Amino acid sequence: MSMGGDGGEPPPAGEGLDPDGEPLRVLVTGGAGFIGSHVVDGHLARGDRVWVVDDLSSGRRENVPDGVELLEADIKSRTVRELMGDVRFHLVNHHAAQIDVRVSVRDPIHDARVNVLGLLNLLEGAVETGVNRVIYVSSGGVVYGEPEEIPTPETAPKLPLSPYGVSKLAGEQYLHYYRTVQGLEYVALRYSNVYGPRQDPHGEAGVVAIFSHRLLSGEELLIFGDGEQTRDYVYVKDVAHANLKAAELPLPAEGGIDSRAFNVATGVGTSVNRLADTLESVANLRTGRVFRSPRAGELRHSTLDIERFTARGWAPKWSLKDGLRETFQYIAATKTGTSLGT
Ligand SMILES: NC(=O)c1ccc[n+]([C@@H]2O[C@H](COP(=O)([O-])OP(=O)(O)OC[C@H]3O[C@@H](n4cnc5c(N)ncnc54)[C@H](O)[C@@H]3O)[C@@H](O)[C@H]2O)c1
Repeated sequence: MSMGGDGGEPPPAGEGLDPDGEPLRVLVTGGAGFIGSHVVDGHLARGDRVWVVDDLSSGRRENVPDGVELLEADIKSRTVRELMGDVRFHLVNHHAAQIDVRVSVRDPIHDARVNVLGLLNLLEGAVETGVNRVIYVSSGGVVYGEPEEIPTPETAPKLPLSPYGVSKLAGEQYLHYYRTVQGLEYVALRYSNVYGPRQDPHGEAGVVAIFSHRLLSGEELLIFGDGEQTRDYVYVKDVAHANLKAAELPLPAEGGIDSRAFNVATGVGTSVNRLADTLESVANLRTGRVFRSPRAGELRHSTLDIERFTARGWAPKWSLKDGLRETFQYIAATKTGTSLGT
């Protein structure tokens, strides 16, 4: 099977990702999804050549821009390995995942199949085809479990409290093995709560998308608990930049999983009540609020320390207000059938 790769030799490890000035060949798994599609946009804007592998289980074909080859396939499949052999990617950016904590609790075997076995299929392919770097998406909201230190630094204990958290952390540990024993370089990005255009309002993670849809439909905002629980909301365009930065970041020769992990967040906690206030103000809509009993097992506070990544030149640029405004405008436009193209 050929996806149009030119089969050239990837540059040797340690010399950066683009030594000959040729466009970087990048595979984005999950590139038809919410965050992955913004990462695709970022690579295209930089002049890289991009391929997407996505089974479209939650992603959408419309999220993949023209000029990008979409292979509709499972990350666990042989087809993906064939694509990797054909194209010989410089960089694999791995966003495809089972992303739902509750699904992972209901069906931990399914979660591990996608998040562990799917990852291993890609890593075996990466070693086989000489990939220079893997960017792996972890989760700062779950790998630390119930953290004692807030904002939570990368070095905090990793004691995840869900199968999803365990599978995300296992991914980092597998990568540590592949780096130290097989010589495959990687960066792990631990995201906080990402929001922005193209987020699915049907999941449970996308509170901004859910609130925006409810405001537009004239429905009350549902809040679990007293609304004073805090989260660290980071805008998806800042996250896309973090991925571009991670692709070229110089890395230390030694170190455990924390040496290659970076929190991608804002370092600021925002309560659900304050998030709702800000969204109502940018939308100029108010539909009232209904408070329900708190969700079992939900963390009270979650905010990540971002000093490690900011010291290396990445920083979030979008204020919550501006990010919410752009997201709300996008959702309002798509709901009425016109796209703003963000
Ligand atoms: N959204 C957040 O706040 C957040 C926070 C922390 C980490 N993450 C991580 O970021 C990544 C992207 O999440 P998202 O929020 O954009 O979700 P998303 O559901 O929009 O994206 C996931 C993509 O992966 C694809 N996919 C799922 N299983 C697949 C499989 N077996 N084979 C091929 N493709 C498959 C889906 O179709 C989808 O396009 C995930 O790894 C997720 O765990 C997200």
